Order: sequence, then C-alpha cells, then structure tokens
Amino acid sequence: MVRDVDKPAIGSNEVLVKVIEVGMDGTDKEIGEGLYGEAPAGSEYLIVGHEAIGVVEDVGSGVKGFKKDELVVATVRRPDSCINCVNGQSDMCLTGNYTERGIKGAHGYMAEYYKEVPDFLVKIPDSIKGVAVMLEPFSITEKAISQIFAIQKRMIWKPHTAVVLGTGSVGLFAAMQLRLRGIDVFSVDRSSASGVKNDIFEALGIEHIDSSKDGIGSLPKTIGKNIDIVIEATGNPDAVRGSLGITGINGVDCLLSVTGGTSMESIDIAKLGYDMVLGNRIVFGSVNSNRAHFEMGVNDMIEVEKRYGGVLEKLITRFPVSAFKTYDVLNEKSRIKNVFVM
Ligand code: BGC
Ligand code: ZN
Repeated sequence: MVRDVDKPAIGSNEVLVKVIEVGMDGTDKEIGEGLYGEAPAGSEYLIVGHEAIGVVEDVGSGVKGFKKDELVVATVRRPDSCINCVNGQSDMCLTGNYTERGIKGAHGYMAEYYKEVPDFLVKIPDSIKGVAVMLEPFSITEKAISQIFAIQKRMIWKPHTAVVLGTGSVGLFAAMQLRLRGIDVFSVDRSSASGVKNDIFEALGIEHIDSSKDGIGSLPKTIGKNIDIVIEATGNPDAVRGSLGITGINGVDCLLSVTGGTSMESIDIAKLGYDMVLGNRIVFGSVNSNRAHFEMGVNDMIEVEKRYGGVLEKLITRFPVSAFKTYDVLNEKSRIKNVFVM
C-alpha cells in the first residue's frame, strides 16, 4: 500500500536523496507475500525497495565529497559490530544482526526521499543513469564472481567454461560479467530463449540451453568441456541439486539464489563426496554485496554499455509508482526487471 510519511530531516553527516527509480525483485515479492522481511524495530510497516537510483537533494554541513544533483545508488546492508561489518564487509556479517534497507529491520528506498551517510552511497556517472537502478542486483553477481576468483587462488586456474543456471536478472548479469572476463558462457533455463533474452544472448555471444527436456544432469555431455564455473541463480531446489553434479574438475559451484521452502529429494552422498574429493570441487554460497562490489558494478556497467550498448536497458519495464498498488506487475512476463518511477 501507499502511505504518507515524513520527509527525512538530515543530520550534519547525512545526505538527503530524492529517489528517481526503484527496482523490484523476487525478494520484494516474498516480502509482499509476507514470507520474508522485517519492519524496523518499533515500526508497524516496512518501506520496501532495495534497488534505487536517486539524486542528491541536500547535504549536511559536515558531509564531504557529495554535492547537490549528483546521482547515487545506496548499498543495502547496514553493519553491526562484528569484525567483518566494522571492516566494511557487512555482506560477510558473522552474527546475522545486520539490517538491510527495504528488507530486514530498516526502511528502504520506495519513497520520494531517503537519507543516508556517505559511506553507503555510491556515485553514478551520467552515462549509466538509465540502467543504474539495476546496480544492486548487478553488484550481487560482482560479489559472487570476485569470490569465485578469490577462492580459486588455491591453484593455477584459467577458467574457460561457465554454466549459469537461471535467466532472471541475476542469472543474466552473471552471464554478462563472465563474458566480460572472456569466459564461454552457457546460460540455462527451462524454456526456449526468445525476445529480450535472445537479443542479449546474441549480442554477448552467450549460448542458451533449454534444460526442460534433458535436465541439468546432461549438461556436461552436451557442452563437452570441463565446466570450470557453475552459478546457480534459479531459486529452485532441483537446480541447486543439479548444480552439484555438473561442476567440473577443480571447478567451483556458487549458489546464489535464496532458495525457500523444503525439498526432501534424496541424493547419493557417497558419490557426491567422492566426486568432490577426487575432483577438488568446491560448492559455496554467496549473499548480498558491499560497496566494493557496487563500484566494480559501475565499471562493468560502463563496459557493457560500451561493448554492447543498449542490452541493459532492454531488461527494464517501467511503471509509475501508482502501479505499485496492483502488485501483479511483478508477474509481468515480457521483461525481467520491473522498475517503478517515483
Ligand atoms: C538482495 C540482497 C540481500 C538478499 C537477502 C536480495 O534480494 O539483493 O542485497 O542481501 O536479498 O535479504
Ligand atoms: Zn556483522
């Protein structure tokens, strides 16, 4: 629902941001359905929205480095006092006592204005103004990929082949960022590629595989090469399980979707253990992103725009904020990202 709230009053170290556009994703859908999320302590409602581009409207007297009319995107997570959080890595919070704006214990950006301290604001160059509303999900895959490369420092590693399961925005961003790094990418979902997705695959030289017939298990055979990287971005437990069985020798499987519910299907643990040990395989999970990943995302968005101009914009369907009342827009199929214009 839409409600009136007070315009935030900024303190001397805060920045007032006027919101331009807000993106909605699967997490927002779950919050809307009451399955996830948490209002701030003492509040009976949560202002949603954790993906937003805005423009600086006002700066407190003690703020350095920001001025009126600059474009900004805010990060999502806010730290507690654990060692990772106090060192700028709240995405690796050790306690779970972090908050997340628009998701967990803190209001988000689906409002005319929000206020924030400079540490959590990332400046956006004009050249990506039209697509930077997607910087937050884009930063999620930047984190995942940088973690993959950090983990694989355990050996000499020259990855050639990656499989990305899922072609929602996160899956597509992962595929794009891997392509920027010169890796052959197979993008997998259970449909034949069409429309916008097909345009993106063609522009970036990504191969699409429809797994609806043969399943995920046959991918190593279909692809015929050692799969160095698997990224699971479907939210589907079958795909999580499938990802475990396709990771190649010395390969790494990154689970990236917040997979809800329960799935009790059995798997052969002995075989899984055997394959993981004999093939030096790794499975790990990755959530959220910190400022460094947003900054990597800015650079990669600029690069995508330069090399494949226009593909990011194709992912967006825009709605006026009044459409927020009819939550159905989140199910709109033709495009991937729903963006609300404030
Ligand atoms: C957001 C992340 C967040 C996660 C879990 C995702 O939709 O992009 O920033 O950490 O949800 O709440
Ligand atoms: Zn923490």
